Amino acid sequence: MSALARMVEQVIEPQSVLEGAGVRLNRSIGTQALDYLDPFLLFDDFTSKHRHDYEAGFPLHPHRGIETVTYVLEGEVQHKDTLGNAGSIGAGEVQWMTAGRGIMHEEMPQVRPEGIMGFQLWVNLPARLKMTRPRYQGIRSDQIPEIRQKDGARVRVITGTVDGITGPVTGIAADPTYLDVFIPPNISFTHPIEGGQTLFVYVFAGAARFQQASKNLRLISHPHLVIFGDGDSVTVKTEAHSVRFLLVSGRPLGEPIARYGPFVMNTEEEIEQTLLELREGTFVTT
Ligand code: CO
Repeated sequence: MSALARMVEQVIEPQSVLEGAGVRLNRSIGTQALDYLDPFLLFDDFTSKHRHDYEAGFPLHPHRGIETVTYVLEGEVQHKDTLGNAGSIGAGEVQWMTAGRGIMHEEMPQVRPEGIMGFQLWVNLPARLKMTRPRYQGIRSDQIPEIRQKDGARVRVITGTVDGITGPVTGIAADPTYLDVFIPPNISFTHPIEGGQTLFVYVFAGAARFQQASKNLRLISHPHLVIFGDGDSVTVKTEAHSVRFLLVSGRPLGEPIARYGPFVMNTEEEIEQTLLELREGTFVTT
C-alpha cells in the first residue's frame, strides 16, 4: 500500500463572535460556514491581550453529550462545577472534560498582564456514551511530552502518538490526536494520520505550505483552520518563517445530531428531555 498524502480541502477564516457573558473570540468550527466537522462540533480561539475581550468569562452553564477540551498557552482559566470539581488551567495545561450526562460549570479567564491565549474544542460523544458519567482529565504542562526533532521541530503530544511517544489524555471515544507543533524555517514535517479520520490543522502563528493538489503547495498563514481530505499522512513545509499549529484528528461518528447550544444529542426528543430536566432541577445528578 502506498502512502497517500492528505490534501487541503478547505481553508476556514475564523469568525469573531461574542460568547459566554461577552467574551470576544474567534470561531472556526460551529459557524454557519462550518457547522460540524464530524466528530468536532466547535473550535474557538479565545486569545487576547485585552481584558475587555475575556474578563466576563463563561459563568455557570451546562453541557451534555459532548467533551470540551481547553488548552491554555498563556494566562489562566479557573473552572468549577456543581459536582464539586474545581481547579485552574494554566499556561501549557489541558483540561479534557467529558461532560457525558451532564455537568454545570463556569470557566473564567483570569485578568493577567500577559492576557489570555488558548483554545477550546468540542468533541462529540457517540450515542452509547452521551449519558456516561462525567470525567475530567486535567493535565499539567510537565505531563505533556515534548518531542524535539533533530531539525528543530517540536511537538507537544496531548493525545495520540508521535515517534512512539503517547500523550497523557487517554480513553477518548473519538480515538483523537491532539498535537501542538512548532516548525522552524526551511523544514519539511510529515506526520502519519490513520486513514478515515477527520483531520484539521489550526495555524495560530507564522505560516507554512500545505499540500493542496499534486505538486501544488498552498501557503497558509495564521490564523486559519485547514481541513484535509482523506489519506494516511500530512506534510507541512516552512520557508522563511516558522509556523505553529494545532493538529487535531478523530474518528467520525456518522450519527445524527440534535444540537441546542451546549447540548448535543442524537434526537430532538433527547434535547427536549434535557431542557425538561433543567427546568425541573434534575439535570445534574451525582
Ligand atoms: Co463550558
